[in-house]
Amino acid sequence: MKRFPHYKQPDAMDCGPTALRIVAKYYGKHYNLHVLRELTYKSREGVSLLSLSDAAEKIGFRTQGVRLGFEQLEEATFPCILHWNQNHFVVVYKIRSNRSGAVVFISDPAVGLLQYSKDEFLRCWASTKEDGEQKGIALFMEPTPDFYSEKGEKVNKAGFRYLLKYIKPYRRLILQLILGFLTGSLLSLILPFLTQAIVDVGIATNNLNFIVLVLVAQLVLTISQTAVGFVRSWIMLHVSVRVGISLISDFLIKLMKLPIRFFDTKMIGDLRQRIDDNQRIQSFLTGNLISMSFGVFMFIIYSFIMAYYDLRILLVFYAGSILYVTWILLFLKRRKEIDYKRFAVSADNQSNIYQLITGMQEIKLNSCEKQKRWEWERIQTSMFRVSIKGLMLQQNQQAGSVFINQAKNILISFISAKAVIEGDLTLGMMVAVQYIIGQLNSPINEFIGFIQTAQDAKISLERLGEIHEREEEEPADMQKIEELPVQSQRTLKIENLSFHYEGPRSPRVLKDINLTIPENKITAIVGASGSGKTTLLKLLLGFYPPNEGKISLGDIEFQQFSMDMWRKKCGTVMQDGYIFSDTIANNIAVADDIPDKDRLFHSVTTANIREYIEGLPLRYNTKIGQEGVGLSQGQKQRILIARAVYKNPEFLFFDEATNALDANNEKEIMSNLDEFFQGKTVVTVAHRLSTVKNADQIIVLDKGEITEIGTHSELVDRKGTYYNLVKNQLELGS
Ligand SMILES: Nc1ncnc2c1ncn2[C@@H]1O[C@H](COP(=O)(O)OP(=O)(O)OP(=O)(O)O)[C@@H](O)[C@H]1O
Ligand SMILES: [Mg+2]
Repeated sequence: MKRFPHYKQPDAMDCGPTALRIVAKYYGKHYNLHVLRELTYKSREGVSLLSLSDAAEKIGFRTQGVRLGFEQLEEATFPCILHWNQNHFVVVYKIRSNRSGAVVFISDPAVGLLQYSKDEFLRCWASTKEDGEQKGIALFMEPTPDFYSEKGEKVNKAGFRYLLKYIKPYRRLILQLILGFLTGSLLSLILPFLTQAIVDVGIATNNLNFIVLVLVAQLVLTISQTAVGFVRSWIMLHVSVRVGISLISDFLIKLMKLPIRFFDTKMIGDLRQRIDDNQRIQSFLTGNLISMSFGVFMFIIYSFIMAYYDLRILLVFYAGSILYVTWILLFLKRRKEIDYKRFAVSADNQSNIYQLITGMQEIKLNSCEKQKRWEWERIQTSMFRVSIKGLMLQQNQQAGSVFINQAKNILISFISAKAVIEGDLTLGMMVAVQYIIGQLNSPINEFIGFIQTAQDAKISLERLGEIHEREEEEPADMQKIEELPVQSQRTLKIENLSFHYEGPRSPRVLKDINLTIPENKITAIVGASGSGKTTLLKLLLGFYPPNEGKISLGDIEFQQFSMDMWRKKCGTVMQDGYIFSDTIANNIAVADDIPDKDRLFHSVTTANIREYIEGLPLRYNTKIGQEGVGLSQGQKQRILIARAVYKNPEFLFFDEATNALDANNEKEIMSNLDEFFQGKTVVTVAHRLSTVKNADQIIVLDKGEITEIGTHSELVDRKGTYYNLVKNQLELGS
């Protein structure tokens, strides 16, 4: 057996990239250390599991970082990377159990290939103890098709060749599958001869014992065939589930790399439908492709046997089958059109159902149940119409193919019967011929099924290609700066910025904005509804590039930074912030697998929601969001604030973060936040005077333009837009 690869790390800091290099080598790809080093060292903090996983994904792995126990680890796909002694990374490539216990095989970048007993292994690997079980951290990695593609070569993701790469990791299983098919069919090859023997030898010589013997043989054959079939189904399920997960997971990876603009129009139905497309591809790959390649083999063998019995019959069979396949091919184009229609209607249907459920409150409040239901029914009608078209097509196709097939079979029966009468064939041979024709027919039917599912898969691939070919927010070949400029060089500067959401003719939402957001200061943005405040924040978060002008951080233009990195440094509370259907703790520590308790307490205290949470029976483990307990708007906002505080970033962007809170609550939170804001650059959008008043500078936006900049007292004295905006509150407040 081949030795598992090992590389030595040149430096203590290099264990992460070296471990990655070992795994890549195992999958047959050579990388230079410096390439991986560059990909992993995103920051000066050194390599973390997260940066390792980022780098692995960049070179085409699909990764999953998990905390798990030894038993679960034993079942994992090897090799995977383990966090070792809390300060090192190693690769585990095999776990073998023998009588004296488990042996773990490790490729350690610092040492070499090693073997550990379970106890020794756990001592180095396990970092926590949960429910009496020792757990450690592992990074699972599986190569995606991108991994195998040559460096720099763009993979055509709408091609079948790309698909084949999905089944490549399962070569061995597929080989077993083919072996299974082979044994099954070789066994079945004997059957026609047995049947012939019964008739020609057994019946002809009145030898019942012989017949019994042959029948027993037949029974044994059938049993073994069934057994082979069982094993085959298990392997098939295994491969198809894995391929299915990989396909959809790659789709999700791609989806998450797309710029936010893609999601501006939320096409829930469309995306859902495309995920279903993945399933079509999966069933094609794992079902039809494999059995088809095998059918071809069987077809050839049986053709030879048939030719041995009677060549004429074989030729008639061929002629009939060619006619049959041609007939089916004639319908393909229509089939494709109907499929596209079906896709569009189903996508509508999905969106509609989603809207019905999520909008139920509004539907009931406005008593528009009937209208909404009718809308749904109208979509059903169009679905029905498409289904009718599909059925019609199928029936036309079927009528023709049944006719062709029957004609072919009758002709063959006639020819073979005639041959028996004329003495060219024995009766037993005729029975055998019938059996063989049956066996020949099944690959033909499989082939037809194959053509159709291949067409389905092709259509689905095209549709998925539409997503896969979209430009990513940060294409892998683009060099981005992965670090913030040094302290005191982190002022945000906006120069002559203009922005519009849609085409160049659409109205400009921001016009000619010039603005400096000084480091470690609080900048407030105020303005009437629709004046572009949220839009400005989104530009600062790198969701959209400006149409004109530029944003820079320090002296470096914004576009040169990795926005992924930038957003990691930003804490945000957006106006339409989202609460996940998860526990409170996980909702606050969204990016951590295990929330840090101290930070959690600090964040809920700052957001002034600790009392509420601790009053709940399940406290921090209470489920909230779509499937959990409902929250009031203000509680929701406080959870969102706690999320930003927990992240503890250098930049903060708050968009109406406290507008749903009562004055007392707000005051409390603002005074807590005052302390938290120290040493951070803060941009906050607010209507309330109380939140804005203490800002270092206030920016007044009006219809996309900046009309005033200054501190509260300056702007009040000027008696301009700002004064008018806050006038009512001024009178109340002072
Ligand atoms: N995704 C979008 N696509 C097209 N236009 C948009 C989009 N989002 C916002 N707009 C438009 O941009 C303009 C500014 O919107 P924005 O959300 O920035 O306003 P705002 O100042 O935050 O208002 P509010 O105080 O009500 O939150 C609005 O006229 C809005 O119609
Ligand atoms: Mg807004």
